[in-house]
Amino acid sequence: MKFFIDTANLTQIREAEDLGILDGVTTNPSLMAKEGITGHDKILKHYVDICNVVTGDVSAEVLATDFTGIVEEGEMLSSLHRQIVVKVPMIKDGLKALKYFDKKGIRTNCTLVFSAGQALLAAKAGATYVSPFIGRLDDINQDGVDLIHQIVHIYRTYDYKTQVLAASIRSPLHIVKCAEAGADVATCPLSAILDLLKHPLTDSGLAKFLADARKFSEPVNR
Ligand code: G3P
Repeated sequence: MKFFIDTANLTQIREAEDLGILDGVTTNPSLMAKEGITGHDKILKHYVDICNVVTGDVSAEVLATDFTGIVEEGEMLSSLHRQIVVKVPMIKDGLKALKYFDKKGIRTNCTLVFSAGQALLAAKAGATYVSPFIGRLDDINQDGVDLIHQIVHIYRTYDYKTQVLAASIRSPLHIVKCAEAGADVATCPLSAILDLLKHPLTDSGLAKFLADARKFSEPVNR
């Protein structure tokens, strides 16, 4: 499973890249605003800055909601850098735009997906990635990981090439459950990735190994 980081924070992106396990970045308008990146030119420059930090795909979201606007914005975003993937919302004009981009060879990430039916449409339209938001489903008492299982099953049954990008991940357990479900990618906050490292038995085991090593490195007859 590929690991993407879900942030527009360059410091966190660099930290994840330095870990050596980062495969890409996803952003959205809320994450850009959270970093204080506002205004057309600043946003475009920030996408390029992110592409210069990582080697993998970087999702950049369109703000237009009509077909012509989505196409114009998506083509402009895609021309910024070869790593840019155009993020398109799962709406009627977005669906048409996904098909258009597919024919033009422009890679896409269909976002705001909350059902298997929406994921089926995204695959039929030729989306490169589909982003089911599992945390937001959990928030309304629906099991988000179940949706990942369902989409993976459907895509494998029909051999759709669209990659399942589990999004709205909130915890290390979400990441592991998405891996079990066969997600192609999980896009996560840095904190959830770092939490995967943690285990109390690792900490206590390492403390014991180091204490024993210190004992045996002391001179025997002192
Ligand atoms: O990638 C989508 C993600 O940014 C949404 O996450 O935590 O706002 O539900 P969240």
